[in-house]
Amino acid sequence: MEIVIVQHKDEAAKIAADIVESYVREGKTLGLATGSTPLGTYQELIRRHREQDLSFRDCQAFLLDEYVGLPRSHEQTYYQTIRREFTSHIDIDDAQVHSPDGTAEHPGEAARAYDRSIGDAGGVDIQILGIGSDGHIGFNEPTSSLQSRTRIKTLHPDTVRDNARFFDDDESKVPHHVMTQGIGTIGEARHLLLLAFGENKAEAIAAMVEGPVSAMCPASALQMHEHVTVIVDTAAASGLKHTQYYNYALENKPTWQAF
Ligand code: PGA
Repeated sequence: MEIVIVQHKDEAAKIAADIVESYVREGKTLGLATGSTPLGTYQELIRRHREQDLSFRDCQAFLLDEYVGLPRSHEQTYYQTIRREFTSHIDIDDAQVHSPDGTAEHPGEAARAYDRSIGDAGGVDIQILGIGSDGHIGFNEPTSSLQSRTRIKTLHPDTVRDNARFFDDDESKVPHHVMTQGIGTIGEARHLLLLAFGENKAEAIAAMVEGPVSAMCPASALQMHEHVTVIVDTAAASGLKHTQYYNYALENKPTWQAF
């Protein structure tokens, strides 16, 4: 795991956009996350599309997760959110932006089909990830199998509370079920890029980076992956014990080694 600690999230967005851009320029497959964390990165990529001719024409994109039961027209579906925040502002064909079908009549089957479709497309090259304050990635809540595949999950009450801000601050409006790529599915992406900002992520980041690999912190499964870049601000890094080493490793990074 490469840990990059920055002073401000704008700096993180630029570094993350540099990493994603290198994949976009090769027409690679992007794994997209919703939530507030990647928004700065998406804005920077949109800017590069507009001002620097960065083209997404040859890319495919796969979303991590979706609420179950919300119609696709609902503004809080991740189907709508990723279009509103990112993909409608770049030159990717809408049909190339894939997401789990939270409206499917047979959700279990739809989840398995989605999982297969990622593999059929050749897998994800660069997966953008946020992290929940409880250590979830995608919607894989604590106790999720570290080998899980795309499936239906019940949200943890903490996540329902965290996400109520998108539903008029009303927890009763937040769907309690979701369809999410599993931890095993996410782990098949070739490069994982996880971003986290703010004090309320500090505990989850410490558990992910320096804790044991455990289903109690689903993000700790990233310790088993061979190519992970973690970009955090100083607040999210505040629970880490070995920051001196992470900074040293970054400053002394061999010049031939890209992120
Ligand atoms: P956030 O959510 O980016 O809105 O903090 C992250 C997550 O829950 O995975």
